Amino acid sequence: MPDGDVLPQGVDPGKASVARMYDAMLGGEHNFAIDREAVAAFTAIDPQVRTLARANRAFLGRAVRFLVESGVRQFVDLGSGIPTQGNVHEVAQAACPGAKVVYVDNDPVAVAHSEALLADNPDATIVAGDIRDPAGILSAPRLRELIDFEQPVAVLMITILHFITPQEDPAGIVAAFREALPADSWLALTHATDEDRPDTAAAVGQLYRDRATSPVTARSRTEIESLFGGFELVEPGLVYVPLWRPDRAEEVPENPSQYWVYAGVGRKDA
Ligand SMILES: C[S@@+](CC[C@H](N)C(=O)[O-])C[C@H]1O[C@@H](n2cnc3c(N)ncnc32)[C@H](O)[C@@H]1O
Repeated sequence: MPDGDVLPQGVDPGKASVARMYDAMLGGEHNFAIDREAVAAFTAIDPQVRTLARANRAFLGRAVRFLVESGVRQFVDLGSGIPTQGNVHEVAQAACPGAKVVYVDNDPVAVAHSEALLADNPDATIVAGDIRDPAGILSAPRLRELIDFEQPVAVLMITILHFITPQEDPAGIVAAFREALPADSWLALTHATDEDRPDTAAAVGQLYRDRATSPVTARSRTEIESLFGGFELVEPGLVYVPLWRPDRAEEVPENPSQYWVYAGVGRKDA
C-alpha cells in the first residue's frame, strides 16, 4: 500500500505495525515510511534481519508441506500477516487441492489484503481476530464454516507468540487452542529467542517498545519448548529456524544461532 492511500480503520499512523514491518523486511509493498524507518533501525541492530525473515518464511513453507504429507488437510494460521510469497493456502492447496485454510490476524492492513486475495477462494478465508481471545477466534462463523474439528487441524503460530507478554499468558493461549483440537492435530511455531544473542534481543525489544504497535518478548529455549506442552515435537525437535528439515544441505548456514528464532512442529498427544 503506497503512502497516501486511505488507511483502513484501526490503523495508528504514529506507530510502525509489526505486520507491515515484516512485510517491509520481506520486500513487500504494503508498508509505510514509518514501518520502513523502523526496519532500518532493526537492520542497524541486526544487519541480517531480512535474511532471518526470509528463513522464517521458508520454514513456514517446509512445515506446511510436511503437514500435508502427514495427512493434514486443515490449517488455522494465527498471526498470518500481510499476504506475501508462499502463503499457506498456496503451499497447502498446491500440495493438496481443496485443503482448507483459515487465516487470523488483528492487523487491519493484513486483514484487508487477505480479504481481497481470498475473495474467490472457497477453501480459504481470513478472520479478523486477536490470539489473546482464543474463544472468539474458535467460535468465529467463518472459521467454523471451513474447519471440521472432528478431523486433524494444524495450528500455525509463526512468529506471533513473542508479541504476547508474560502477563498475557502465551502458554494459556496455546493450551486453549490445543483443547479445541482432535487427536492427530498439530502445532507449528517459531519464536524469537534471547538464548544466544541476549544483547540483540534486548535492543530489538527496546525498538519495538519505542516504535511499534506491539512489544516483543524474546524467550529462552526452555520457555519456548514449554509452549509445546501437550504436543510431541517431531524430529529434529526445537531448533534454530534454518535447521528444521532443510530442503538442501547448502541452505544450512555456518552459524545457525545467528538466526535467533527457534522453530518446531509437534503432534498433539493422544
Ligand atoms: C511477524 S508477522 C508473521 C507473519 C507470518 N505468520 C509469518 O511468519 O510469515 C506477525 C503477525 O502476527 C500478527 N499479530 C501480532 N499480535 C497478534 C495478536 N495478538 N493477534 C493476532 N495477530 C497478531 C501481526 O499483525 C502480524 O501480522
